[in-house]
Amino acid sequence: MIAIGSDQGGFELKQAIMKHLKERNLEFKDYGSYSEESVDYPEYGRKVAEAVADGTCDRGILICGTGIGISIVANKVKGIRAALCTDCFMAEATRQHNDANVLALGGRVVGPGLALKIVDTFLDTEFSNEERHIRRIKMIEE
Ligand code: RB5
Repeated sequence: MIAIGSDQGGFELKQAIMKHLKERNLEFKDYGSYSEESVDYPEYGRKVAEAVADGTCDRGILICGTGIGISIVANKVKGIRAALCTDCFMAEATRQHNDANVLALGGRVVGPGLALKIVDTFLDTEFSNEERHIRRIKMIEE
């Protein structure tokens, strides 16, 4: 199960991503926001991050205008490794190296075509399980 959330700056891209997840038959839960009305991104970043941290969802996708604010929020929640990605290389590397469990995107930064490729790369790439990466993630947690 994928948790997804955005503010108004990511609302349009969230709609495109949800359509894409549906087409891929991937289950997701939309934590809002539910319109283009101005809202506070910390509320939505927190909801999605907590859903991943408590095991309700396996991964999260968060979108605000830049992806920055909402990733800062998500990374405040223990157990969350949120990665702001602007290309597929970053999405692949953060799964392989950081075992990132939340993807953050900027709805005003990346176009929908690239964003969907980043989402697919993030969801389809496994953690490397290499000792040095396990050690570094453990260091983050400590
Ligand atoms: C909202 O205007 C904007 O600040 C927000 O979407 C995000 O970019 C914050 O980092």
